[in-house]
Amino acid sequence: MNIIVLEDFDALSEQAAQMVEEQITKNSHAVLGLSTGSTPLGLYEYLIKGFKAGKTTYQNVTAFNLDEYLGLEKDHPNSYHTFMNERLINHIDIKQENTYIPNGVSASMEQECKHYEELLDTLGPIDLQILGIGTNGHIGFNEPGTSPLSTTHIVNLDETTRESNARFFKSNEEIPKHAITMGISSILKSRQIVVLAAGEKKAHVVKKLLSKEVHESFPASWLWHHDNVTLLVDHEAYQLVGN
Ligand code: PGA
Repeated sequence: MNIIVLEDFDALSEQAAQMVEEQITKNSHAVLGLSTGSTPLGLYEYLIKGFKAGKTTYQNVTAFNLDEYLGLEKDHPNSYHTFMNERLINHIDIKQENTYIPNGVSASMEQECKHYEELLDTLGPIDLQILGIGTNGHIGFNEPGTSPLSTTHIVNLDETTRESNARFFKSNEEIPKHAITMGISSILKSRQIVVLAAGEKKAHVVKKLLSKEVHESFPASWLWHHDNVTLLVDHEAYQLVGN
């Protein structure tokens, strides 16, 4: 794992954007793996800025997202479809039909999981996967205890995950209890993985990840089984390392 410690969230976001832009410059038909949450927001702002400045085009790029809540329609304000459209997709020239996010309201979720994994196999592998880490060590919505062999599947969200995401919902009852997520093995098929961790609240998970102990109880630790992972971490999230 390549570890790059950056001054702050802005520097981390800029560095992540540079890595994505390099990937697209190298391969205009790149397949990106995208994620939601607060951490990639700065990255998406830099990508939009770069696009508007004429640095990049996404016309031939394909993008896969990691996960979606179960039961939220695509146009629900809290769906990850809405998040991605508002935060990135509507602002760049990627073709909507080349963007893939699991469907959380499919009539058959079992079928949807199979279909998403087939899409990843057919259109992938993902060239560059952007990942955040949950405060419980999750990647995507692969909560502690998830098998490293998992493919796209349905999960029960941890209470800690629901609490972390409560800020986006009007009330606790509204926070979905289930989600669909790419599995750990689906994520590890990506050619390159860039993990973003920023802020004090990620300090303990960064410390745990860098202990190099691989265990099912800490899903991010499976990243040690991949040979092309870069961790971009800001000073606040790195502060407990070595202590
Ligand atoms: P965050 O979420 O970026 O909002 O902290 C990260 C994650 O849960 O993967």
